[in-house]
Amino acid sequence: MKVLARVKPVDLVLAEAAGDFDPAELNPNKLKPTLGVWGLTALGVGAIIGTGIFVLTGKAAALSAGPAIVLSFVVAGIVSALAALCYAELSSTVPVSGSAYTYVYATLGEFTAWIVGWGLILEYALGAATVAIGWSGYFTDFIGTLGIVLPKSLTTNPFDGGVINLPAALIILLITVLLIRGTSESDKVNKTIVAIKLLVVAFFIVVGAGHVNPANWHPFMPFGVGGIINGAGLVFFAYIGFDAVSTSAEEVRNPARDLPRGIMGSLAVCTVLYIAVSAILTGILPYTQLNVPSPVSYSLIQIGLNWAGAIVAVGAIAGLTTVLLVMLFGQSRVFFAMSRDGLLPAVFSRIHPRFRTPYLSSALVGIVVAAVAAIGRLDVVADLVNIGTLVAFALVSIGVIVLRQTRPDMKRGFRVPGSPVVPALSAVAAIALVLKGLPVLTLVFYLTWLVIGLGVYFGYSRMRSIVGKSDLAA
Ligand code: ALA
Repeated sequence: MKVLARVKPVDLVLAEAAGDFDPAELNPNKLKPTLGVWGLTALGVGAIIGTGIFVLTGKAAALSAGPAIVLSFVVAGIVSALAALCYAELSSTVPVSGSAYTYVYATLGEFTAWIVGWGLILEYALGAATVAIGWSGYFTDFIGTLGIVLPKSLTTNPFDGGVINLPAALIILLITVLLIRGTSESDKVNKTIVAIKLLVVAFFIVVGAGHVNPANWHPFMPFGVGGIINGAGLVFFAYIGFDAVSTSAEEVRNPARDLPRGIMGSLAVCTVLYIAVSAILTGILPYTQLNVPSPVSYSLIQIGLNWAGAIVAVGAIAGLTTVLLVMLFGQSRVFFAMSRDGLLPAVFSRIHPRFRTPYLSSALVGIVVAAVAAIGRLDVVADLVNIGTLVAFALVSIGVIVLRQTRPDMKRGFRVPGSPVVPALSAVAAIALVLKGLPVLTLVFYLTWLVIGLGVYFGYSRMRSIVGKSDLAA
Protein backbone atom coordinates (compact mmCIF):
# COMPACT_ATOMS: atom_id res chain seq x y z
CA MET A 1 0.00 0.00 0.00
CA LYS A 2 2.87 2.28 0.82
CA VAL A 3 4.09 2.03 -2.77
CA LEU A 4 0.72 3.13 -4.13
CA ALA A 5 0.74 6.18 -1.92
CA ARG A 6 4.28 7.35 -2.69
CA VAL A 7 4.15 11.04 -3.42
CA LYS A 8 6.46 13.17 -5.46
CA PRO A 9 7.81 15.67 -2.96
CA VAL A 10 6.54 19.16 -3.71
CA ASP A 11 10.05 20.55 -3.37
CA LEU A 12 11.27 18.14 -6.04
CA VAL A 13 8.42 19.21 -8.31
CA LEU A 14 9.41 22.83 -7.86
CA ALA A 15 13.11 22.12 -8.33
CA GLU A 16 12.49 20.26 -11.58
CA ALA A 17 10.50 23.14 -12.94
CA ALA A 18 13.40 25.44 -12.20
CA GLY A 19 15.89 23.09 -13.84
CA ASP A 20 16.28 21.61 -17.28
CA PHE A 21 13.40 19.16 -16.97
CA ASP A 22 10.88 21.88 -17.53
CA PRO A 23 8.27 20.55 -19.98
CA ALA A 24 7.59 24.09 -21.06
CA GLU A 25 11.02 23.83 -22.71
CA LEU A 26 9.25 21.74 -25.30
CA ASN A 27 7.96 24.97 -26.61
CA PRO A 28 10.80 26.47 -28.61
CA ASN A 29 9.05 29.81 -28.56
CA LYS A 30 8.80 29.57 -24.85
CA LEU A 31 7.44 32.78 -23.47
CA LYS A 32 9.52 34.53 -20.93
CA PRO A 33 7.67 35.03 -17.67
CA THR A 34 5.72 37.91 -19.11
CA LEU A 35 2.13 36.75 -18.85
CA GLY A 36 -0.10 38.93 -16.74
CA VAL A 37 -3.69 38.57 -15.73
CA TRP A 38 -5.04 39.70 -19.13
CA GLY A 39 -2.80 37.38 -21.09
CA LEU A 40 -3.84 34.54 -18.82
CA THR A 41 -7.52 35.32 -19.16
CA ALA A 42 -7.09 35.42 -22.94
CA LEU A 43 -5.29 32.08 -22.79
CA GLY A 44 -8.15 30.63 -20.78
CA VAL A 45 -10.87 31.99 -23.02
CA GLY A 46 -8.88 30.77 -26.06
CA ALA A 47 -8.83 27.28 -24.63
CA ILE A 48 -12.39 27.26 -23.30
CA ILE A 49 -14.74 28.61 -25.98
CA GLY A 50 -15.06 25.95 -28.65
CA THR A 51 -17.09 22.94 -29.67
CA GLY A 52 -19.02 23.01 -26.40
CA ILE A 53 -20.85 26.24 -27.14
CA PHE A 54 -20.63 26.21 -30.93
CA VAL A 55 -21.89 22.64 -31.41
CA LEU A 56 -22.90 20.67 -28.32
CA THR A 57 -25.39 23.32 -27.17
CA GLY A 58 -27.62 22.44 -30.11
CA LYS A 59 -27.41 18.71 -29.53
CA ALA A 60 -28.01 19.02 -25.77
CA ALA A 61 -30.95 21.38 -26.27
CA ALA A 62 -32.56 19.15 -28.90
CA LEU A 63 -32.05 15.81 -27.17
CA SER A 64 -31.70 16.48 -23.42
CA ALA A 65 -32.74 19.79 -21.95
CA GLY A 66 -34.79 21.86 -24.41
CA PRO A 67 -34.62 25.64 -23.77
CA ALA A 68 -33.63 24.80 -20.18
CA ILE A 69 -30.18 24.16 -21.63
CA VAL A 70 -29.52 27.58 -20.09
CA LEU A 71 -29.85 25.92 -16.68
CA SER A 72 -27.60 23.05 -17.79
CA PHE A 73 -24.93 25.67 -18.41
CA VAL A 74 -25.51 27.05 -14.91
CA VAL A 75 -25.15 23.58 -13.34
CA ALA A 76 -21.99 22.72 -15.31
CA GLY A 77 -20.67 26.23 -14.56
CA ILE A 78 -21.07 25.71 -10.81
CA VAL A 79 -19.23 22.36 -10.93
CA SER A 80 -16.44 24.02 -12.93
CA ALA A 81 -16.24 27.09 -10.69
CA LEU A 82 -15.83 24.93 -7.58
CA ALA A 83 -13.05 22.98 -9.29
CA ALA A 84 -11.52 26.21 -10.57
CA LEU A 85 -11.13 27.44 -6.98
CA CYS A 86 -9.19 24.28 -6.19
CA TYR A 87 -7.03 24.56 -9.32
CA ALA A 88 -6.39 28.18 -8.36
CA GLU A 89 -5.11 27.20 -4.91
CA LEU A 90 -2.88 24.40 -6.17
CA SER A 91 -1.55 26.42 -9.10
CA SER A 92 -0.64 29.28 -6.75
CA THR A 93 1.09 26.83 -4.39
CA VAL A 94 2.82 24.53 -6.88
CA PRO A 95 3.17 26.78 -9.94
CA VAL A 96 4.63 24.30 -12.41
CA SER A 97 3.52 22.82 -15.72
CA GLY A 98 1.70 19.52 -15.86
CA SER A 99 -1.49 20.65 -14.23
CA ALA A 100 -3.71 18.14 -12.44
CA TYR A 101 -1.30 15.24 -12.89
CA THR A 102 1.55 17.04 -11.16
CA TYR A 103 -0.64 18.41 -8.36
CA VAL A 104 -2.02 15.00 -7.57
CA TYR A 105 1.41 13.33 -7.72
CA ALA A 106 2.58 15.79 -5.09
CA THR A 107 -0.44 15.32 -2.85
CA LEU A 108 -2.35 12.07 -3.23
CA GLY A 109 0.53 10.00 -4.55
CA GLU A 110 1.69 8.17 -7.64
CA PHE A 111 -1.14 5.72 -8.08
CA THR A 112 -3.81 8.41 -7.98
CA ALA A 113 -1.66 10.62 -10.20
CA TRP A 114 -1.55 7.79 -12.70
CA ILE A 115 -5.34 7.63 -12.73
CA VAL A 116 -5.46 11.40 -13.32
CA GLY A 117 -2.80 11.30 -16.05
CA TRP A 118 -4.55 8.37 -17.72
CA GLY A 119 -7.82 10.34 -17.54
CA LEU A 120 -6.14 13.46 -18.91
CA ILE A 121 -5.35 11.48 -22.05
CA LEU A 122 -9.12 11.31 -22.48
CA GLU A 123 -9.42 15.02 -21.76
CA TYR A 124 -6.77 16.22 -24.17
CA ALA A 125 -6.50 13.59 -26.91
CA LEU A 126 -10.20 12.79 -27.18
CA GLY A 127 -10.96 16.45 -26.49
CA ALA A 128 -8.99 17.30 -29.62
CA ALA A 129 -10.99 14.71 -31.56
CA THR A 130 -14.25 16.25 -30.30
CA VAL A 131 -13.20 19.75 -31.27
CA ALA A 132 -12.06 18.51 -34.69
CA ILE A 133 -15.49 17.00 -35.31
CA GLY A 134 -17.05 20.37 -34.40
CA TRP A 135 -14.53 22.14 -36.64
CA SER A 136 -15.48 19.87 -39.51
CA GLY A 137 -19.17 20.75 -39.15
CA TYR A 138 -18.52 24.48 -39.45
CA PHE A 139 -15.94 24.00 -42.19
CA THR A 140 -18.25 21.84 -44.29
CA ASP A 141 -21.10 24.31 -43.90
CA PHE A 142 -18.90 27.24 -44.70
CA ILE A 143 -17.46 25.84 -47.91
CA GLY A 144 -21.04 24.85 -48.72
CA THR A 145 -21.97 28.54 -48.74
CA LEU A 146 -19.19 28.99 -51.33
CA GLY A 147 -20.74 26.31 -53.51
CA ILE A 148 -18.31 23.51 -52.61
CA VAL A 149 -20.37 20.58 -51.43
CA LEU A 150 -18.56 17.53 -50.07
CA PRO A 151 -20.46 14.23 -50.14
CA LYS A 152 -21.95 13.22 -46.78
CA SER A 153 -19.97 9.98 -46.89
CA LEU A 154 -16.76 12.01 -46.55
CA THR A 155 -17.91 14.39 -43.81
CA THR A 156 -19.85 12.09 -41.49
CA ASN A 157 -18.84 9.19 -39.26
CA PRO A 158 -20.16 5.67 -40.02
CA PHE A 159 -22.53 5.74 -37.00
CA ASP A 160 -24.38 8.74 -38.40
CA GLY A 161 -24.77 7.44 -41.93
CA GLY A 162 -21.42 8.43 -43.47
CA VAL A 163 -18.13 6.64 -44.01
CA ILE A 164 -15.39 8.92 -42.74
CA ASN A 165 -15.16 12.45 -41.38
CA LEU A 166 -12.28 13.53 -43.57
CA PRO A 167 -12.04 17.25 -42.66
CA ALA A 168 -11.88 16.34 -38.96
CA ALA A 169 -9.03 13.88 -39.52
CA LEU A 170 -7.14 16.23 -41.82
CA ILE A 171 -7.22 19.22 -39.47
CA ILE A 172 -5.79 17.05 -36.68
CA LEU A 173 -2.97 15.86 -38.93
CA LEU A 174 -2.27 19.40 -40.09
CA ILE A 175 -2.02 20.75 -36.55
CA THR A 176 0.12 17.79 -35.55
CA VAL A 177 2.60 18.70 -38.27
CA LEU A 178 2.61 22.31 -37.07
CA LEU A 179 3.23 21.20 -33.49
CA ILE A 180 6.06 18.89 -34.52
CA ARG A 181 7.69 21.70 -36.45
CA GLY A 182 7.49 23.79 -33.34
CA THR A 183 4.86 26.25 -34.38
CA SER A 184 3.05 27.27 -31.28
CA GLU A 185 0.76 30.01 -30.30
CA SER A 186 2.36 33.18 -29.20
CA ASP A 187 0.62 35.31 -26.66
CA LYS A 188 -0.07 37.91 -29.34
CA VAL A 189 -1.53 35.54 -31.94
CA ASN A 190 -3.62 33.93 -29.26
CA LYS A 191 -4.97 37.27 -28.10
CA THR A 192 -5.88 38.19 -31.69
CA ILE A 193 -7.79 34.97 -32.32
CA VAL A 194 -9.45 35.17 -28.92
CA ALA A 195 -10.57 38.68 -29.80
CA ILE A 196 -12.06 37.40 -33.08
CA LYS A 197 -13.79 34.59 -31.24
CA LEU A 198 -15.24 36.93 -28.64
CA LEU A 199 -16.35 39.37 -31.33
CA VAL A 200 -18.15 36.61 -33.19
CA VAL A 201 -19.91 35.45 -30.03
CA ALA A 202 -20.90 39.04 -29.19
CA PHE A 203 -22.02 39.50 -32.80
CA PHE A 204 -24.29 36.46 -32.51
CA ILE A 205 -25.75 37.75 -29.25
CA VAL A 206 -26.45 41.22 -30.66
CA VAL A 207 -27.81 40.09 -34.03
CA GLY A 208 -29.69 37.10 -32.60
CA ALA A 209 -31.33 39.02 -29.76
CA GLY A 210 -33.44 40.95 -32.26
CA HIS A 211 -34.81 37.70 -33.75
CA VAL A 212 -35.82 35.87 -30.60
CA ASN A 213 -39.34 34.50 -30.60
CA PRO A 214 -40.25 33.93 -26.93
CA ALA A 215 -42.76 31.26 -28.01
CA ASN A 216 -39.75 29.03 -28.73
CA TRP A 217 -38.92 29.00 -25.00
CA HIS A 218 -42.14 27.08 -24.29
CA PRO A 219 -42.16 24.45 -23.03
CA PHE A 220 -39.06 25.50 -21.12
CA MET A 221 -38.26 22.15 -19.53
CA PRO A 222 -39.63 19.52 -21.93
CA PHE A 223 -37.42 16.80 -20.43
CA GLY A 224 -37.71 17.87 -16.77
CA VAL A 225 -34.93 18.25 -14.23
CA GLY A 226 -33.32 14.98 -15.37
CA GLY A 227 -32.97 16.48 -18.84
CA ILE A 228 -31.23 19.54 -17.43
CA ILE A 229 -28.71 17.36 -15.59
CA ASN A 230 -28.11 15.20 -18.67
CA GLY A 231 -27.63 18.39 -20.66
CA ALA A 232 -25.13 19.57 -18.05
CA GLY A 233 -23.24 16.29 -18.40
CA LEU A 234 -22.74 17.02 -22.11
CA VAL A 235 -22.22 20.80 -22.12
CA PHE A 236 -19.72 20.49 -19.28
CA PHE A 237 -17.38 20.04 -22.23
CA ALA A 238 -17.82 23.75 -22.95
CA TYR A 239 -16.00 24.67 -19.72
CA ILE A 240 -13.01 22.40 -20.16
CA GLY A 241 -9.83 24.32 -20.74
CA PHE A 242 -9.57 26.71 -17.81
CA ASP A 243 -7.17 24.21 -16.31
CA ALA A 244 -4.95 24.93 -19.31
CA VAL A 245 -4.27 28.30 -17.69
CA SER A 246 -2.51 26.55 -14.84
CA THR A 247 -0.24 24.70 -17.27
CA SER A 248 1.35 28.02 -18.19
CA ALA A 249 2.34 28.67 -14.59
CA GLU A 250 6.01 28.96 -15.42
CA GLU A 251 5.43 31.74 -17.90
CA VAL A 252 3.54 33.97 -15.52
CA ARG A 253 5.09 37.05 -13.93
CA ASN A 254 3.29 36.80 -10.63
CA PRO A 255 1.73 33.34 -10.58
CA ALA A 256 0.55 33.39 -6.98
CA ARG A 257 -1.60 36.44 -7.65
CA ASP A 258 -2.41 36.23 -11.35
CA LEU A 259 -3.12 32.51 -11.85
CA PRO A 260 -6.20 32.42 -9.64
CA ARG A 261 -7.45 35.63 -11.24
CA GLY A 262 -6.83 34.31 -14.75
CA ILE A 263 -8.56 31.01 -14.02
CA MET A 264 -11.59 32.54 -12.34
CA GLY A 265 -11.75 35.46 -14.77
CA SER A 266 -11.80 33.34 -17.92
CA LEU A 267 -14.40 31.04 -16.41
CA ALA A 268 -16.62 33.97 -15.44
CA VAL A 269 -16.45 35.51 -18.93
CA CYS A 270 -17.33 32.20 -20.57
CA THR A 271 -20.20 31.42 -18.22
CA VAL A 272 -21.92 34.72 -18.95
CA LEU A 273 -21.45 34.29 -22.70
CA TYR A 274 -22.69 30.68 -22.66
CA ILE A 275 -25.87 31.57 -20.86
CA ALA A 276 -26.56 34.42 -23.30
CA VAL A 277 -25.78 32.36 -26.42
CA SER A 278 -27.83 29.34 -25.36
CA ALA A 279 -30.81 31.52 -24.41
CA ILE A 280 -30.74 33.29 -27.76
CA LEU A 281 -30.12 30.13 -29.77
CA THR A 282 -33.17 28.41 -28.31
CA GLY A 283 -35.12 31.64 -28.76
CA ILE A 284 -34.34 31.93 -32.47
CA LEU A 285 -35.29 28.39 -33.45
CA PRO A 286 -37.40 25.69 -31.76
CA TYR A 287 -35.03 23.46 -29.81
CA THR A 288 -36.13 20.45 -31.84
CA GLN A 289 -34.35 21.88 -34.88
CA LEU A 290 -30.98 22.40 -33.25
CA ASN A 291 -29.41 18.95 -33.56
CA VAL A 292 -27.17 19.96 -36.47
CA PRO A 293 -23.36 20.12 -36.86
CA SER A 294 -23.18 23.93 -36.74
CA PRO A 295 -26.23 25.19 -34.79
CA VAL A 296 -25.03 28.74 -34.13
CA SER A 297 -24.51 29.74 -37.76
CA TYR A 298 -27.34 27.44 -38.88
CA SER A 299 -29.85 29.33 -36.73
CA LEU A 300 -28.93 32.62 -38.38
CA ILE A 301 -29.12 31.10 -41.85
CA GLN A 302 -32.57 29.65 -41.05
CA ILE A 303 -33.93 33.13 -40.33
CA GLY A 304 -32.55 34.42 -43.59
CA LEU A 305 -29.35 36.05 -42.31
CA ASN A 306 -26.93 34.13 -44.54
CA TRP A 307 -24.22 36.77 -44.32
CA ALA A 308 -24.36 36.73 -40.53
CA GLY A 309 -24.23 32.93 -40.52
CA ALA A 310 -21.12 33.03 -42.70
CA ILE A 311 -19.38 35.51 -40.36
CA VAL A 312 -20.12 33.30 -37.36
CA ALA A 313 -18.86 30.23 -39.23
CA VAL A 314 -15.53 31.85 -40.08
CA GLY A 315 -15.07 33.02 -36.48
CA ALA A 316 -15.95 29.57 -35.19
CA ILE A 317 -13.45 27.89 -37.52
CA ALA A 318 -10.67 30.22 -36.32
CA GLY A 319 -11.69 29.86 -32.69
CA LEU A 320 -11.93 26.08 -32.78
CA THR A 321 -8.47 25.87 -34.33
CA THR A 322 -6.87 27.48 -31.27
CA VAL A 323 -8.69 25.07 -28.97
CA LEU A 324 -7.27 22.20 -31.04
CA LEU A 325 -3.75 23.58 -30.69
CA VAL A 326 -4.11 23.86 -26.93
CA MET A 327 -5.50 20.34 -26.61
CA LEU A 328 -2.88 18.60 -28.74
CA PHE A 329 -0.12 20.62 -27.10
CA GLY A 330 -1.56 19.80 -23.68
CA GLN A 331 -1.47 16.10 -24.51
CA SER A 332 2.20 16.28 -25.41
CA ARG A 333 2.90 17.98 -22.05
CA VAL A 334 1.04 15.33 -20.08
CA PHE A 335 2.88 12.52 -21.86
CA PHE A 336 6.14 14.39 -21.38
CA ALA A 337 5.55 14.81 -17.65
CA MET A 338 4.56 11.15 -17.20
CA SER A 339 7.49 9.94 -19.26
CA ARG A 340 9.89 12.20 -17.33
CA ASP A 341 8.65 10.57 -14.14
CA GLY A 342 9.39 7.15 -15.63
CA LEU A 343 5.74 6.14 -15.74
CA LEU A 344 5.68 6.01 -19.55
CA PRO A 345 8.47 4.89 -21.92
CA ALA A 346 11.20 7.41 -22.68
CA VAL A 347 10.07 7.58 -26.29
CA PHE A 348 7.29 9.93 -25.16
CA SER A 349 9.78 12.53 -24.12
CA ARG A 350 12.26 12.09 -26.97
CA ILE A 351 12.96 15.48 -28.46
CA HIS A 352 13.55 16.13 -32.16
CA PRO A 353 17.13 17.34 -32.64
CA ARG A 354 16.19 20.26 -34.86
CA PHE A 355 12.62 21.17 -34.00
CA ARG A 356 13.12 20.67 -30.24
CA THR A 357 9.66 19.12 -29.89
CA PRO A 358 8.55 15.66 -28.68
CA TYR A 359 7.95 14.58 -32.26
CA LEU A 360 7.35 10.86 -31.75
CA SER A 361 4.80 11.40 -29.05
CA SER A 362 3.05 14.13 -31.08
CA ALA A 363 2.98 11.96 -34.20
CA LEU A 364 1.55 8.98 -32.36
CA VAL A 365 -1.09 11.11 -30.67
CA GLY A 366 -1.92 12.85 -33.96
CA ILE A 367 -2.49 9.60 -35.85
CA VAL A 368 -4.65 8.02 -33.14
CA VAL A 369 -6.67 11.20 -32.57
CA ALA A 370 -7.19 11.67 -36.32
CA ALA A 371 -8.54 8.12 -36.53
CA VAL A 372 -10.96 8.75 -33.66
CA ALA A 373 -12.08 12.05 -35.22
CA ALA A 374 -12.62 10.29 -38.55
CA ILE A 375 -15.05 7.70 -37.23
CA GLY A 376 -16.16 8.88 -33.77
CA ARG A 377 -19.61 10.15 -32.88
CA LEU A 378 -19.48 13.64 -31.42
CA ASP A 379 -21.55 13.14 -28.27
CA VAL A 380 -20.02 9.76 -27.40
CA VAL A 381 -16.49 11.12 -27.64
CA ALA A 382 -17.42 14.33 -25.76
CA ASP A 383 -18.96 12.36 -22.89
CA LEU A 384 -15.75 10.35 -22.51
CA VAL A 385 -13.73 13.55 -22.37
CA ASN A 386 -16.08 14.84 -19.69
CA ILE A 387 -15.77 11.80 -17.47
CA GLY A 388 -11.96 11.83 -17.63
CA THR A 389 -11.94 15.51 -16.75
CA LEU A 390 -14.54 15.29 -13.97
CA VAL A 391 -12.56 12.52 -12.27
CA ALA A 392 -9.44 14.73 -12.46
CA PHE A 393 -11.45 17.63 -10.98
CA ALA A 394 -12.59 15.46 -8.07
CA LEU A 395 -9.07 14.26 -7.32
CA VAL A 396 -7.57 17.75 -7.57
CA SER A 397 -10.20 18.98 -5.11
CA ILE A 398 -9.29 16.26 -2.65
CA GLY A 399 -5.64 17.18 -3.27
CA VAL A 400 -6.32 20.65 -1.85
CA ILE A 401 -7.60 19.18 1.41
CA VAL A 402 -4.66 16.77 1.64
CA LEU A 403 -1.98 19.38 0.95
CA ARG A 404 -3.46 21.65 3.63
CA GLN A 405 -2.92 18.78 6.07
CA THR A 406 0.48 17.56 4.89
CA ARG A 407 2.09 20.92 4.05
CA PRO A 408 0.27 23.63 5.98
CA ASP A 409 3.50 25.64 5.93
CA MET A 410 3.61 26.18 2.15
CA LYS A 411 2.98 29.66 0.88
CA ARG A 412 -0.36 29.84 -0.90
CA GLY A 413 -1.02 32.81 -3.18
CA PHE A 414 -4.68 31.91 -3.15
CA ARG A 415 -6.67 29.89 -0.64
CA VAL A 416 -10.00 28.25 -1.38
CA PRO A 417 -12.43 29.91 1.01
CA GLY A 418 -14.24 27.59 3.40
CA SER A 419 -11.81 24.66 3.09
CA PRO A 420 -12.31 21.74 3.62
CA VAL A 421 -16.04 22.14 2.98
CA VAL A 422 -15.75 23.86 -0.42
CA PRO A 423 -13.12 21.48 -1.91
CA ALA A 424 -15.15 18.53 -0.57
CA LEU A 425 -18.26 19.98 -2.19
CA SER A 426 -16.31 20.37 -5.42
CA ALA A 427 -15.32 16.69 -5.40
CA VAL A 428 -18.88 15.59 -4.63
CA ALA A 429 -20.32 17.86 -7.35
CA ALA A 430 -17.94 16.46 -9.98
CA ILE A 431 -18.71 12.86 -9.09
CA ALA A 432 -22.45 13.60 -8.91
CA LEU A 433 -22.33 14.99 -12.45
CA VAL A 434 -20.57 11.81 -13.59
CA LEU A 435 -23.19 9.58 -11.99
CA LYS A 436 -26.30 11.61 -12.78
CA GLY A 437 -25.41 13.46 -15.96
CA LEU A 438 -23.53 10.96 -18.12
CA PRO A 439 -24.88 7.89 -19.93
CA VAL A 440 -24.18 4.48 -18.39
CA LEU A 441 -22.31 3.48 -21.54
CA THR A 442 -19.83 6.28 -20.90
CA LEU A 443 -19.15 4.88 -17.44
CA VAL A 444 -18.59 1.44 -18.95
CA PHE A 445 -16.16 2.86 -21.53
CA TYR A 446 -14.36 4.81 -18.81
CA LEU A 447 -14.02 1.80 -16.52
CA THR A 448 -12.63 -0.21 -19.43
CA TRP A 449 -10.11 2.55 -20.11
CA LEU A 450 -9.23 2.58 -16.41
CA VAL A 451 -8.68 -1.18 -16.31
CA ILE A 452 -6.31 -0.91 -19.30
CA GLY A 453 -4.55 1.92 -17.46
CA LEU A 454 -4.19 -0.15 -14.31
CA GLY A 455 -2.70 -2.93 -16.42
CA VAL A 456 -0.09 -0.53 -17.80
CA TYR A 457 0.62 0.87 -14.33
CA PHE A 458 1.12 -2.46 -12.59
CA GLY A 459 2.74 -4.09 -15.62
CA TYR A 460 5.17 -1.29 -16.41
CA SER A 461 5.06 2.07 -14.68
CA ARG A 462 5.20 1.08 -11.02
CA MET A 463 8.58 -0.63 -11.42
CA ARG A 464 10.09 2.13 -13.53
CA SER A 465 8.92 5.12 -11.56
CA ILE A 466 11.80 7.53 -10.95
CA VAL A 467 10.34 8.59 -7.61
CA GLY A 468 10.00 4.93 -6.68
CA LYS A 469 13.64 4.24 -7.55
CA SER A 470 14.98 7.12 -5.55
CA ASP A 471 14.87 7.46 -1.84
CA LEU A 472 12.93 10.65 -2.16
CA ALA A 473 9.61 8.95 -1.68
CA ALA A 474 7.89 10.25 1.37
N1 ALA B 1 -14.18 23.89 -23.84
C1 ALA B 1 -13.61 23.51 -25.08
C2 ALA B 1 -14.62 23.41 -26.15
O1 ALA B 1 -15.77 23.63 -25.89
C3 ALA B 1 -12.87 22.25 -24.95
O2 ALA B 1 -14.29 23.15 -27.28
